[in-house]
Amino acid sequence: MNTIPIIFSTITGNAFRLASAVADIVPDHVGPYNISYINDEVLEKFDTFILSYWCNHGTADDDTIALIRRMKGKNLIVIGTLGAAVDSKHASDVAERVWALASEENTLLGHFLCRGSIDLRRTARRLSIPEGEKGHLSQERFEKQKLSLGHPNEEDLKNAQEAVKGFLKLS
Ligand SMILES: Cc1cc2nc3c(=O)[nH]c(=O)nc-3n(C[C@H](O)[C@H](O)[C@H](O)COP(=O)(O)O)c2cc1C
Repeated sequence: MNTIPIIFSTITGNAFRLASAVADIVPDHVGPYNISYINDEVLEKFDTFILSYWCNHGTADDDTIALIRRMKGKNLIVIGTLGAAVDSKHASDVAERVWALASEENTLLGHFLCRGSIDLRRTARRLSIPEGEKGHLSQERFEKQKLSLGHPNEEDLKNAQEAVKGFLKLS
């Protein structure tokens, strides 16, 4: 198997944790590399990539979308975290969008999604925005967001490793 670069895009570190966990089980890899430093030379040099993203507004984050759009004819394994429960309709919609994006001009070997803790200091500020105004967050939704804390946990990281082993057909 050829060398596989592992690339992450993150705001609060969850995608980096996922990328690092996966790096432990991919025998011949380079990285994890921050997505900001991926130039055309890296893209030309490798055939297969692992991309770790964070979910932004129902799809992959902008940097990951932009990177995938620069890739043509590559083999991709795409892994990510989102704040919502992984068995929610929202999560399957996210998975569907990312799947479609990664399959447009490349071959998607597999996609893995798990929960990632939401930055509650950031979202708590929205509790004071009055109902009906842009950005308002209800107490009920804030309580749901709290369930994301602690993710990705050891089990999530192990699941990511197992998923990637399967995508790469590693024993
Ligand atoms: C601007 C912004 C938009 C987000 N949009 C969503 C979303 O649409 N759905 C969701 O489930 N989580 C959403 N999240 C939560 C993040 O996807 C989640 O916390 C993720 O684990 C963050 O990963 P990171 O630590 O690698 O940045 C959003 C977070 C931010 C900051």
